[in-house]
Amino acid sequence: MMRIDILSAVPELLESFVSHSIVGRAVKEGQVDIRLHDLHDYGLGRYRQIDDYPYGGGAGMVLRPEPVARWIEQLQSERDYDEIIFMTPDAPVLRQSTVNELVLKKNLIIIAGHYKGLDQRIRDRYVTREISIGDYVLSGGELPAAVLTDAIVRLLPGVLNDETSALTDSFQNGLLSAPVYTRPLEFKGMKVPDVLRSGNHAAIEKWREEKSYEKTRRIRPDLLDEE
Ligand code: ADE
Repeated sequence: MMRIDILSAVPELLESFVSHSIVGRAVKEGQVDIRLHDLHDYGLGRYRQIDDYPYGGGAGMVLRPEPVARWIEQLQSERDYDEIIFMTPDAPVLRQSTVNELVLKKNLIIIAGHYKGLDQRIRDRYVTREISIGDYVLSGGELPAAVLTDAIVRLLPGVLNDETSALTDSFQNGLLSAPVYTRPLEFKGMKVPDVLRSGNHAAIEKWREEKSYEKTRRIRPDLLDEE
């Protein structure tokens, strides 16, 4: 079973995420083992200190290396980890291809940063992959860690069923998904495209491909430039 260990200074933020919805169900059904860890448990001294002022001055606090290192080494003494991932905005942006790669791993560590950042020496010594979830800054790495975990877990075998299949997701073929419709046939004067009711599977497939391509060219032309 895949195991994901997530380190955070505010693990409470992730509790509801790992116990509800598709991820929660996957945990309950034993398709993934997700462990939340509180960085304060590895903090320094009586006040369980986890951060400090940046050398060289500047705004914000930096996570000290010792608590993070202690936590990582503790876990590594218990099992082998395939990747130690740090969620941070100064990193390559997450793509479906990265998720497809990570879902094949067995044990993952995800570090959710906080404050102004994480002492560079942890990144240099332990981290094997750094991931941003987009070109904007959040106040902590918990939501990014949840985003990455969700994207991975839904691809694990048995987590999605036929109806929620990942095969027709946007990005799985490098394009955005085609529009979808359900009942009623007519809504506020807008009709469902005839082809979707034709029963002609080849025509429906062709229509979806065309819509996918047209939509991608219109709103994400950058995706068409790749490869
Ligand atoms: N932490 C803060 N902002 C982030 C982002 N955009 N991606 C990953 N981690 C982050």
